[in-house]
Amino acid sequence: MVKQVSAVDKLKGRVTLPGDKSISHRLLILNAMSEGISEIENICLGDDVKSTAKCLTALGVRISFDGTDAVVEGVGLHGFIPPQGILDAGNSGTTMRLMAGLLAGQPFESTVDGDASLRNRPMGRIIKPLVEMGASVKALRADDKPPIVIKGGKLHGIYHRPPVASAQVKSCVLIAGVLADGLTTVSEVYPTRNHTELLLSSMGAEIAIDNQDVSINGLGDKALQPLSMRVPGDISAASYFMVAGSIHDNAYLTIPDCGVNPTRRRIIDLLCGIGGDVKLANTRKSGPEQVADIIVQTPSSPLASFELAGRTTADLIDEVPILAVLATQCNGQSTIRDASELRVKESDRIRSVVNGLKVMGADVQELEDGMIIKGPSKLRGAIIDTYGDHRIAMAFSIAGLIADGTTTILDAQCVSISYPGFYRILESLAC
Ligand code: S3P
Repeated sequence: MVKQVSAVDKLKGRVTLPGDKSISHRLLILNAMSEGISEIENICLGDDVKSTAKCLTALGVRISFDGTDAVVEGVGLHGFIPPQGILDAGNSGTTMRLMAGLLAGQPFESTVDGDASLRNRPMGRIIKPLVEMGASVKALRADDKPPIVIKGGKLHGIYHRPPVASAQVKSCVLIAGVLADGLTTVSEVYPTRNHTELLLSSMGAEIAIDNQDVSINGLGDKALQPLSMRVPGDISAASYFMVAGSIHDNAYLTIPDCGVNPTRRRIIDLLCGIGGDVKLANTRKSGPEQVADIIVQTPSSPLASFELAGRTTADLIDEVPILAVLATQCNGQSTIRDASELRVKESDRIRSVVNGLKVMGADVQELEDGMIIKGPSKLRGAIIDTYGDHRIAMAFSIAGLIADGTTTILDAQCVSISYPGFYRILESLAC
């Protein structure tokens, strides 16, 4: 599917967000491991979360959906059954890596595969700790690329320091840690999104946090309690509209019910820090997660440039494509560094973003670990290759709202990975 986006005079209205993708995956997996029934409201209906649900169903878990509500019948830590065929994680790295943690503690063999993009993503980062914990895990392609074959073992706790900041790796090891004997500790280079530990703790697991070390005690004979909650709106999905409202010259957007977990909300600080007009109202809790309503409007003065590096880049890893679009409208030189992880996402996001910005006329220079963007530039409509990557499609659709002429987004259907309603919402805001 091809989508065409053109400049609009006004951007006004209410943005309905999908449930947070990271929290949705975790609630499905952790509730499947619990003993009892949980009700999840506002679950993300993107293809990635559906992949997780399908994998769990293949392992004998009953999950029913009624719109964005899901009911999960937990089977306990040891009630999973061997799958009949290959488990398909689709496009979802989170599915493959988190499911691997669960499968590493099950007494049967399973194979997890994915689409062409996922088959190119590195799995050594989860294979190493899971093998150290006592499972047999092998990648069937060179360089630790999927499919992966996992023969679960009797696991024991480890101390693991992943070389890259990755919430997927941390979550994989913590989920295996639930099933392991003794203490498992993940010591992070930078603290990553903390949904897994927050949810596990609410479900009765013993979690301890000491600076960047997260530890869990194996559950042994104890059970995880089911956790029913409403999934907060996805702040990474909201980021497209926060940036749209900040770069458009006549915008007023409300974004209700957005997750504002401190490990995810750095985009708000960044926008406010460069002169954006983003406000939070009605901050509250949903389960262990923080939620707020966000109001964003055209700033009263030009936006300043910004620099992302180190921990800041790690915090904003999913937001880099839309922040690159933002940088084209900021005064001066913006720099994004320490973002090599983007080269192994759903596409090589450094390359995808740089190519898209170049064809739209922005001043951008590719770096091995990021990019330098000089703004402000008047963007011009162009044909955008999304490389089938949802975050590239959404970022360049927002760029199209302020460009001269028409922007054509190729393979635009890929937005359904995380935000199936994205274009419907975008069209409803354009006046
Ligand atoms: C995610 C972690 C991040 C992020 C991805 C979702 C998660 O990946 O990019 O979209 O839900 O844990 P990494 O752990 O590979 O950084």
